[in-house]
Amino acid sequence: MRTPVIAGNWKMFKTVEETVRFFDELKPLVADVDHCEIVIGVPFPSLTAASEAVRGSRIKIAAQNLHWEDEGAFTGEVSGRMIRGAGADYVIIGHSERRQYFGETDKTVNERIRAAFRSELTAIVCVGETLQEREAEKTEDVLKTQFAGGLAGLTAADLSRIIVAYEPVWAIGTGRTATPRMAADAHRFIRSQAAELFGSAAAEALRILYGGSVKPESVASLMEREDIDGGLVGGASLKADSFARIVRYNQAES
Ligand code: PGA
Repeated sequence: MRTPVIAGNWKMFKTVEETVRFFDELKPLVADVDHCEIVIGVPFPSLTAASEAVRGSRIKIAAQNLHWEDEGAFTGEVSGRMIRGAGADYVIIGHSERRQYFGETDKTVNERIRAAFRSELTAIVCVGETLQEREAEKTEDVLKTQFAGGLAGLTAADLSRIIVAYEPVWAIGTGRTATPRMAADAHRFIRSQAAELFGSAAAEALRILYGGSVKPESVASLMEREDIDGGLVGGASLKADSFARIVRYNQAES
């Protein structure tokens, strides 16, 4: 049985003060939830405040990136040790916005995953195709390359510390969600790649999240699918109320 994960990704939104207010609102809305892990990826300056705000609840905190070294002369960078020290348990790696705007490659994704492990952070590793790649029927090639490149040289034991997020780039922030069937096909393909590289037991245990315009209205139909183990939620994670409705995907909307 794979425990589902509903993870928020705030991207570059919210000050420390706004962060504290958000968690004050969110905590009572999800206090009784025990069917999934709840994670929120906050900007670096809010890591400590967020970690303190969720103490005593089941909500966990993620950073949105980390450097591949533990420390050094890398002005402007943040390491896994610092993130861990600030109280986070997870880190998002290889988000398509980092690939697109900041030159992230499968090689640097791989180095960052290794750095996350050294600091005992669970890595949420993002993969996904662009619209042109999908239209050229290259989706599976892209997923295969990103998955094998990002996770190169890792072991089946390492895979248990990784969560994969399938995020079709054309669905991110566009309001255009992949259909549950499209997402499920991609998830099944990723799981088959995991089985080839790490064996079927490790692949069966791997959580694969869907990301790309997940909303309270669309989450249940995605979560019904066998290979979809959760969501990575951008825009709809910025409001406590909509994020809580996504977390409670298994309850009928009132
Ligand atoms: P979105 O973002 O839900 O706003 O589409 C998802 C993501 O980029 O992780």
